[in-house]
Amino acid sequence: MSTRIVVIGTGYLGATHAACMADLGHEVLGVDVDPSKLAKLEAGEVPFWEPGLPEVLTRNIEAGRLRFTASYAEAAEFGDVFFLAVGTPQRKGEFAADVTYVDSVIENLAPLISGPAVIFGKSTVPVGTAARLGARARELSPAGDQLEVAWNPEFLREGHAVQDTLHPDRLVLGVDRDRLGRAEDVAREVYATLLGEGIPFLVTDLATAELVKTSANAFLATKISFINAISEVCEAAGADVTVLADAIGHDDRIGRKFLNAGIGFGGGCLPKDIRAFMARAGELGADQALTFLREVDTINMRRRTAMVDVVREQVGTLLGARVAVLGCAFKPDSDDVRDSPALNVAGQLQLQGAGVSVFDPKAMDNSRTLFPTLGYSASTLEACRGADVVLVLTEWREFRDLVPADLDGVVREKRIVDGRNCLDPELWRNAGWTYRGLGRP
Ligand code: UDX
Repeated sequence: MSTRIVVIGTGYLGATHAACMADLGHEVLGVDVDPSKLAKLEAGEVPFWEPGLPEVLTRNIEAGRLRFTASYAEAAEFGDVFFLAVGTPQRKGEFAADVTYVDSVIENLAPLISGPAVIFGKSTVPVGTAARLGARARELSPAGDQLEVAWNPEFLREGHAVQDTLHPDRLVLGVDRDRLGRAEDVAREVYATLLGEGIPFLVTDLATAELVKTSANAFLATKISFINAISEVCEAAGADVTVLADAIGHDDRIGRKFLNAGIGFGGGCLPKDIRAFMARAGELGADQALTFLREVDTINMRRRTAMVDVVREQVGTLLGARVAVLGCAFKPDSDDVRDSPALNVAGQLQLQGAGVSVFDPKAMDNSRTLFPTLGYSASTLEACRGADVVLVLTEWREFRDLVPADLDGVVREKRIVDGRNCLDPELWRNAGWTYRGLGRP
């Protein structure tokens, strides 16, 4: 059955959700306050790099199931199922999340809703937010108790956003247990196709749903910092963290995923989410419970300075060294440079006197905007020309597929540092290169 759905916020999360809900056959209206973003989306252009999303967007616009607007009045007229997908960034100078965008959606939308409706929050929010927004929405809306707020956290990964939305591992829905409403039934209609495929659907109270999301991200961040901490011990002991990760990963209680040691995690989610989680636990008087996340964050940030130290060790002195940086997105298949470990390392190297030349297949524009003073190159070869050392900091396929012959006669010194442990050490060493991985002998 087709439902009329409004998706508010058309960033990574909202644009993907809107396009994918239309792909499930629903009629969808995307809402955003940014006119330039809307103009692009209306023209079938995705304002960021996400494999597969442009195709899904275009086919649904063409089929007449998807359009966009800046008008809340139009949104309130359009349907009675709303998904809230605006950002909750880290507050300036604090650990806590900035929830002003979610608050402002409720302030603007609720007064315009006059009949039964459900607002499903998808954004990652501090636990307790959904209950607070629900109370505020009922207060502001002429619909009163007939306007419900439920929480349906999103687990999509950038670079796999379409796949993760249309084939999620699970669907989680938090509902207000004190008010028996329609939220669960509405969610079952919206996600009928996915539920028909047997995707697990967990219905919880609001607080649990909010915490599922923050705990999942905290667990993933912990797993990465765990292996990075072990990689420091491996380095001290002359052991190989990549083999160790394979070996412990065979234990299916542990699992091999998210055990890739390197320069650590970045992006718009994991770093700020663990910090917001700590801040919220503190507000709730449970700060002791999450002190380990401080260590997770510290280990992660230490990877970036450790990488700079490795480069210094390779070239002797950073002053005047020519460093090729391959990759500046926070991970491959994304143009996102928010809290990118690669860009942070490139910036530190430049501050310490190195001449840095950065190339990334997709993230150059975003990097230039965020870090205009870095040196940029138009290709891998241009970045590597005359380099004293080549760094692979984001494991894009085209960097993983590099072979020594590609860089023959291009670099000044045959040195390569593998910040993501994504290259074959033997291949490079056999060709006369100095190969340096992280946590490997
Ligand atoms: C993450 C969560 O995975 C997703 O479920 C949530 O909805 C949003 O946050 P994302 O930020 O897109 O998704 O990226 P993810 O694939 O989780 O990678 C995060 C960072 O960890 C990247 O910088 C990546 O390079 C790094 N990482 C990942 C490692 O350093 N090692 C690993 O083994 C895995």
